Parts: sequence; structure tokens; C-alpha cells
Amino acid sequence: MTTMDTVKLEIDGPTATIYFNRPDKKNAMNPQMHRDMHVALDAIEEAGGVKAVVLTGNGNSFSAGMDLEECFLRPFDDPQLFYRTNLVALKWFQRLKAFPAVTIAKVNGFAFGGGFEVTGLCDLAVASETALFGLSEINFGIFPAGGASWAATHNLPRKQALYYILTGDTLTGKQAEEYGLVNKAVPLEQLDAETDRIVGKIINKNPVTLELAKQVYERTTTMDLPTAIDYDQAKLWELSRLSGNEWINVALKQFEKRSYQPGLSTYKRAEKES
Ligand code: COA
Repeated sequence: MTTMDTVKLEIDGPTATIYFNRPDKKNAMNPQMHRDMHVALDAIEEAGGVKAVVLTGNGNSFSAGMDLEECFLRPFDDPQLFYRTNLVALKWFQRLKAFPAVTIAKVNGFAFGGGFEVTGLCDLAVASETALFGLSEINFGIFPAGGASWAATHNLPRKQALYYILTGDTLTGKQAEEYGLVNKAVPLEQLDAETDRIVGKIINKNPVTLELAKQVYERTTTMDLPTAIDYDQAKLWELSRLSGNEWINVALKQFEKRSYQPGLSTYKRAEKES
């Protein structure tokens, strides 16, 4: 376990959990937290073998977003300081979106601004039914920035995205599930179990396949079909080479013996494989 000032990191084999850890400040992300997030992501990459990264908050909040005083109000009069301070945040947001392991937001409470954004940047998300999301930027006079508008447009239908951007109203975990911002909303007491259930499905997969599946999904969304097919075929050969042809030599050999039905379950990976 690595302890930083504002972030707690636990790595347990193929699963890492990052806790935003300023519960007294509703886990608002101050400059120290942005620096700590880079340290946490570095540590996960250096550990190797992590397939699922869960992000959650200590206490009753996921994150109340950017620390409005430390990130915006105080450095504002020094443009260079303002720029450098917030660049640290903008960089880890982008790192998170492109992270090689599968990222899962476990939204346990308030998720405003940057907290909403982090949920949208993760690959998957689970929320408590009573979690409260909001793009509150309009309520303090700006629009969602630093990727927060992007997260809204890529996770909500247009009318809902614009509604929450323009009104600053909150939405619950239940509504977030309805609009597709989270995969599932559950009663708070089931949040750990539901997250563990998803993590359990991820960690018995081949990590190379997980990483390339994410790349193919992300890159092909902006391609036309012929380009997407060219790209995914090249990636399939890359996957084959990087994984020692595991899909043929292990997965489909097991299918040949009818030891599992791929429509209903996954093949058995060898113990030594990560
Ligand atoms: N930036 C800085 N401080 C914040 C913060 C933020 N984004 N969110 C909460 N805090 C601070 C509060 O100011 C308060 O500090 P204090 O104890 O020094 O007075 C402390 O965290 C606890 O928050 P409080 O408002 O008392 O808790 P609450 O449960 O009544 O309300 C929220 C929680 C999240 C509704 C409320 O704190 C809030 O509106 N925060 C701002 C959310 C926001 O606009 N985020 C977008 C940022 S991009």
C-alpha cells in the first residue's frame, strides 16, 4: 500500500484501488491531489500486472471536483501559476482516459465537476443510487471545462448533456444509470459487491486483450468502416503476437474440447499467465 497526502492507493494483485482522500473537503481535488494522482498512476504502471483500477472516494463523497479555492481562486492572478497548477490536473485526466488497465469509477457520493468528469473518463462506472452528480460550473459562472464538457457529451444524450451543463441541476445515481453515465446504480450497501463483481469478470481476462480492446473501441469510434476494419485487423495480429497466440492455442483449443461455451463464460487461463 502506498500512502500519499491526498490519495490512498491499494494494489492487490491484478486490482488497484485509488481513494480520493480529503473527506473533510468532500474529496475536492486540490493541487496536491493532482500531483498525487500522477504518483498513484505511476505506481500502478510500475507494479505491472494490474488489470482493473477502481477509483472511489473516502467518506461520503466521490469527489466535489476541482478545489475551487486552491486551483482557481488563489492562483488566478498569476497566470503562469494558474496554468501550471491546472495543467497537472489536465494531464492526469488524459492519462486516465488512455490508461492501459480497465478503469472503473465507484461513485459513492457527491460527484461534481471534476468528479463527474472522472466518472465519464473511466471505462466503466458503478454508483450508489443516491450518489449526486452535477456539472455545477454554470452555478459559479463558467462552463464545464478541462474535459468536463467532453465527459458530458460522450456519456449523456445531447438533450440531457445540455440540460445539466446549462442548469447546473444535480442528477442521482439512478438517473445516471438511466442516461448511461454509469453502468449500474445500486443501493449504497451493495456498491462494493457490485464493483467486485465487475472487477472479478475483468481480472480473469488476458491483460493484452483488455488493453487492445480499449484501443480498438476508442480509435474506431472516429473511423469509417473500411479504416476501422484495417485498423482492427492489424491490432488482431498485434494481439496474437503479444499474447503468444493465446486465443488460438489456449482459448479455441479449449473450445474444440467443448470445455466451455464462449457465449456464456470465458476460457481458463494458465496459472502462470497474468
Ligand atoms: N472546492 C473547495 N472546497 C470544497 C469543494 C470544492 N469543490 N467542495 C466542498 N468543499 C469544502 C466546503 O467548502 C467545506 O469547507 P469548509 O469546511 O472549510 O467550510 C467542506 O468542503 C465541506 O463541504 P460542505 O459544503 O460543508 O458539505 P455539504 O455536504 O453541505 O455540501 C457539496 C457538499 C458538494 C454540495 C458542496 O460542498 C458544494 O457545492 N461543493 C462545490 C461543488 C462544485 O461546485 N464542484 C465543482 C468544481 S469544478
